[in-house]
Amino acid sequence: MKCFRHYGINGDTMELTVSASENINGTLILPIFEGSDGVPEKCQAGMSNSMKNQINRVLSNGDFKAKKKSTMTLYGGEDGKAILVGLGKSDDCTIHDYRNAGASVTATIKKSHGAEMTVRFDGAGISHMAAFAEGMMLRDYSYDEYKKKDDEEDETEVSVRINCSEKEEEELVGQVNVLKGVCKGVHLSRDLGNCPPNDMYPEVFADMARDWAKDFDNVDVTIINYDEAIKAGMGGLVAVGKGSSRKPCMVIFEMNKDVKGRCPVLVGKGITFDTGGISLKPGANMDEMKYDMGGSATVFGTMEALAQTGYEGKVVGITCMAENMPAANATRPGDVIKGLSGKTIEILNTDAEGRLVLSDGLWKAAEFDPEYIIDFATLTGACVVALGHEATGLWSNDDDFRTRIHEAGNAVGELAWPMPLLPAFEKEMTDSKIADTRNLGAGRWGGANTAAAFLKQFVPNRDYEKDGEQITWAHMDIAGTFWGAKTNLMVKNGATGIHVRTIYHLIANS
Ligand code: BES
Ligand code: ZN
Ligand code: ZN
Repeated sequence: MKCFRHYGINGDTMELTVSASENINGTLILPIFEGSDGVPEKCQAGMSNSMKNQINRVLSNGDFKAKKKSTMTLYGGEDGKAILVGLGKSDDCTIHDYRNAGASVTATIKKSHGAEMTVRFDGAGISHMAAFAEGMMLRDYSYDEYKKKDDEEDETEVSVRINCSEKEEEELVGQVNVLKGVCKGVHLSRDLGNCPPNDMYPEVFADMARDWAKDFDNVDVTIINYDEAIKAGMGGLVAVGKGSSRKPCMVIFEMNKDVKGRCPVLVGKGITFDTGGISLKPGANMDEMKYDMGGSATVFGTMEALAQTGYEGKVVGITCMAENMPAANATRPGDVIKGLSGKTIEILNTDAEGRLVLSDGLWKAAEFDPEYIIDFATLTGACVVALGHEATGLWSNDDDFRTRIHEAGNAVGELAWPMPLLPAFEKEMTDSKIADTRNLGAGRWGGANTAAAFLKQFVPNRDYEKDGEQITWAHMDIAGTFWGAKTNLMVKNGATGIHVRTIYHLIANS
């Protein structure tokens, strides 16, 4: 299995520690506010005069203005090197600016900066220092599994020390350790997404999940294979995956399953490649449809983040894995299928497949007595039209819950934008002449909203009771955010691992 980087730390190249020692080891990394005209007092300990003078000079003569995300390297000969990084103006500098500054530094680091670094802050709060470390770690990732390696060239380990006061040390170590675990989840999600589709298909994802679970006593992974899915009546999953030689499956992650009470249930779209099926997609950029399993990567990555940080609550993940291929035995436009819910679906376009696999995943979710259900899916091109690559589309049947997710996203710098779940869209998706629902809207407008309205038809009532209350549910369309976001500083290219951090924050901190 070539595509799977083992769970190495932080993208494998950076080892990050926290220390209250006053030594400057290796290259000094100095976050600076706009308007500073010299090295802040607090950062001067152990600094050579020539290094101090050099930094003072570039700051006072305005060569380095400390604009947000900007960096400058100073090569001080025998006295060592320094990377200055801008935080912008001190009065509007947020935790996100610290995270961005950390990521900018990692993006700047070259071999010539050496293998050791020390970060010095000028009176930043503990969470701000931790966010800087987080930015450094998040950005420390490249997917090079398929590139020839120049053994020593590429294997340089960088060790970064975050300097703080003795008083801050314990708390900062604690925060950074949690963030290390969460970053592992983000990087795992990226690995899964970046893996080419010839090596990443439903069975491989399932094997990885099973292998992964062996490392944790508190996680169980159950795989519902193709035959079992047929027997169970997972008509949506089967309809999408049956045209591929790589058969579909459902992978269920259960963490701390013996804990009593309701729990979050996360459901992911896992189309390992989306050709569109018989409603074949045009050729341009079709390669990007390897990312169509981004929702399942979010679920797996979040499980990793929770497991790595020792989360003790119960959480369930359900990933609906299939490859959408055209074939003699593929589903046709016009077919009517019935899934787990018992509702029939008229398939009018086989390229609207994500909603079909999710219809079974959502229905299955109620077996786990969810506190709430959130699904993640690279669901519609229309969502990218609406929000570009800047925000995930966010729908919910509960306004307060939608706000909670929106706020969790804001807290970690991952935007999820509220979108409308309107009765008119539901009507459109239940207006088939021959079935209970249809998988395509009546026209092309509002395509992301009609998709969400379709999904809502498959969110069960509590305990599947006919007239019961529908389970609290949110849908996150990550079609624009799982890859392709040029403004996302946390990642150089490829899969972003979006919303592992949002959902970790939602589950573990609220
Ligand atoms: N995986 C695609 C959505 C997608 C397209 C994500 C482009 C990211 C970039 C999804 O399965 C799909 O093809 N959706 C169709 C739905 C349509 C047929 C109703 C779409 O968006 O065009
Ligand atoms: Zn599709
Ligand atoms: Zn798709």
